[in-house]
Amino acid sequence: MATIFRDLSYRYQWLYDAISRLAALSVGGERRFRQLALQGLILSSHTKILDLCCGSGQATEFLVKLSQNVTGLDASPLSLRRAKNNVPNATYIEAFAENMPFADNSFDVVHTSAALHEMQPEQLRKIMQEVYRVLKPGGVFTLVDFHPPTNSLFWPGLSVFFWLFETQTAWELLKTDLPGLLREYGFDVGEPILYAGGSLQVIQGSK
Ligand SMILES: C[S@@+](CC[C@H](N)C(=O)[O-])C[C@H]1O[C@@H](n2cnc3c(N)ncnc32)[C@H](O)[C@@H]1O
Repeated sequence: MATIFRDLSYRYQWLYDAISRLAALSVGGERRFRQLALQGLILSSHTKILDLCCGSGQATEFLVKLSQNVTGLDASPLSLRRAKNNVPNATYIEAFAENMPFADNSFDVVHTSAALHEMQPEQLRKIMQEVYRVLKPGGVFTLVDFHPPTNSLFWPGLSVFFWLFETQTAWELLKTDLPGLLREYGFDVGEPILYAGGSLQVIQGSK
C-alpha cells in the first residue's frame, strides 16, 4: 500500500523534486545523479532513447540534451502532462512498461531511473522481457535504482526514506538479483556500479 507521503509527492511535483534533490545529495547532487546511468554510453543526436517510467520528465530533461530522439513512457496521465510541459522536446506515450506499444527492435537505449522499485516481482520480469523486445540488437538497457547499502551507515537513511515514501516492492527490490534476472531475459550484463554507500546501483545490460 502506498504511503501518504508518496501520494503527496506524486500529487505535488515540487515535493517530489525537493525529495529527489535531497536524496541526490548522497551522490553529489541532482545533476550528477542524472548522469550516473548514462556513463559509458555512446550517444549521438540520433540515438533513439526510451525514458521508461519517465515521471514528470526529471531524467528526460537530461536525455534531450544528448539526443533529439527521446521518447518518455509513463502510466500516469498527470505525470505525462507535467513532462510535456517541463520537457516539450521529447515524445510521450501513456502506457504500462510491462506492455509497451512499440515494435520489436525500436530503441538504441532504454533508460529507467528510480522506477523499478515500484514494481511487483512479476511486473519486473515482464518489464525486462519487454525492454529486451523493444531494444535493437546491440542496444543497451541502463538503469539506476536502490541497492542494499554496503556501508552500514547508509541503512538508517535508506530505511527512513522507505518507511516514508516506499512500499514493500522497494524492500523486495533490495533482495532481488537484478543482474541475474536481466541475464535470464538474454541481456549481457556487467557488474552493478554502486554509489551512495552502496544504496544505489547502476546496471547496464546489452541485447
Ligand atoms: C519514482 S517515479 C520516477 C520518475 C523519474 N524516472 C525519476 O527518475 O524521477 C516512478 C514513475 O514510474 C511510473 N510507473 C509506475 N509503474 C509503472 C508502470 N507499470 N508502467 C509505466 N510507468 C509506471 C509512475 O507513474 C512514476 O511516474
